[in-house]
Amino acid sequence: MKIAIKPDLWNEPEQAMQLAARLGLPLATDDESVALLLTYREGRLQIEHTGKPAPGPVLIDFVAGRSAHRRHFGGGRGQPLARALGLKGGKVPTVIDATAGLGRDAFVVATLGCHITLMERSPVIAALLEDGLRRAMDDEDTSEIASRMQLLQGDAAALIAAQPRADVIYLDPMYPESGKKAQVKKEMQLFRQLVGPDLDSEALLAVALKHALKRVVVKRPAKAVALNGPKPSAHISSPNTRYDLYFTSA
Ligand SMILES: C[S@@+](CC[C@H](N)C(=O)[O-])C[C@H]1O[C@@H](n2cnc3c(N)ncnc32)[C@H](O)[C@@H]1O
Repeated sequence: MKIAIKPDLWNEPEQAMQLAARLGLPLATDDESVALLLTYREGRLQIEHTGKPAPGPVLIDFVAGRSAHRRHFGGGRGQPLARALGLKGGKVPTVIDATAGLGRDAFVVATLGCHITLMERSPVIAALLEDGLRRAMDDEDTSEIASRMQLLQGDAAALIAAQPRADVIYLDPMYPESGKKAQVKKEMQLFRQLVGPDLDSEALLAVALKHALKRVVVKRPAKAVALNGPKPSAHISSPNTRYDLYFTSA
């Protein structure tokens, strides 16, 4: 999927050119030849589709919208994600989110008090995360939460080995296409186009199992089979999602 940066859509074209150089992206001269544009509007980095009708942009906002709603009403330590990570009884494990994506799950985990390292291999998604975290640091409602989140760009299979071991490693690889395309939110369609399928999740699971001090947690659609590899030790289910747990401590 061809993606480019259009400096004249930025308040500071210089900044656009620096980001293009850092991400190795071309500069767009006309919108027709590229499918996706990385733009900076109202102080937020975002990816836009140039097609018509274009799906909404992809950007990361931890301060308002869905993340704010989940921060206020998400169910705290009783929610399935918290139970899956082992947050019971006031425990605050250290966590590596090896497939950070748009950082939504990681933000929930940080909201619940954990320090979490986010790893994301797509340089463009990592740039969106960096921008979302910067804005979260600047807002008094979210700065304390964001200060518990550390972002690393690269392939988690290599990064995990170079980091201090965490209590929990969390994996949420891209699910295969469900076939119910119409039901996939437009924003998610764009995200899928950008990162593609995760075909190496089993290898990442094997690395995670070696490095997690207490458990590895894999998020799957409710009815999907587990990743190839050892059988999960347990699972936690919610209506659409299942968390497969692999205990690693002796
Ligand atoms: C389904 S998304 C994760 C969504 C995320 N849990 C959230 O709440 O926004 C999967 C992401 O993992 C990333 N990813 C997959 N395998 C990876 C790997 N080995 N290292 C780093 N990132 C990886 C993909 O690029 C994609 O952005």
